[in-house]
Amino acid sequence: MQILLAHGPNLNLLGERKPEIYGTTTLLDIEADVAAAANARGAAVLCYQTNHEGALIDALHHYRRVVDGVILNAGAWTHTSVALRDAIEAVQLPVVEVHLSNTHRREGFRHRSLIAGVCIGQVTGLGRDGYTAAANLLLDYLEARR
Ligand code: DQA
Repeated sequence: MQILLAHGPNLNLLGERKPEIYGTTTLLDIEADVAAAANARGAAVLCYQTNHEGALIDALHHYRRVVDGVILNAGAWTHTSVALRDAIEAVQLPVVEVHLSNTHRREGFRHRSLIAGVCIGQVTGLGRDGYTAAANLLLDYLEARR
């Protein structure tokens, strides 16, 4: 079993970007957490981050034949990108949407997720721990369908 951990714009700056909202955890810390959770269950993790919307769509297209499922924090594209939603739908991979912050407790424009309807579920507002939860939820989902 192999999963993709994908991050969208500005998430490469985790640790220094708005620590009062996102904490001091870095992207490398999160990638290590997810790898540890997945490896403990015999699964491998591929990590990807981009600040370019089309590149994320290309990556989903590419990895659709490489991985069994995806953990995705799409950052601001969550709220804006019909193209990303269509890509998730097109690749037919199970995707768990993750956000470090509770987007529903923030500005109104963050309350709507354009991708939620094509993801198997959402983990929002649990910070770093949300990723470990997402990894276990995704692996539970994949194992149940084996
Ligand atoms: C985020 C929430 C988004 O609204 C924001 O644009 C981000 C990070 C989160 O992890 O809480 O970049 O996805």
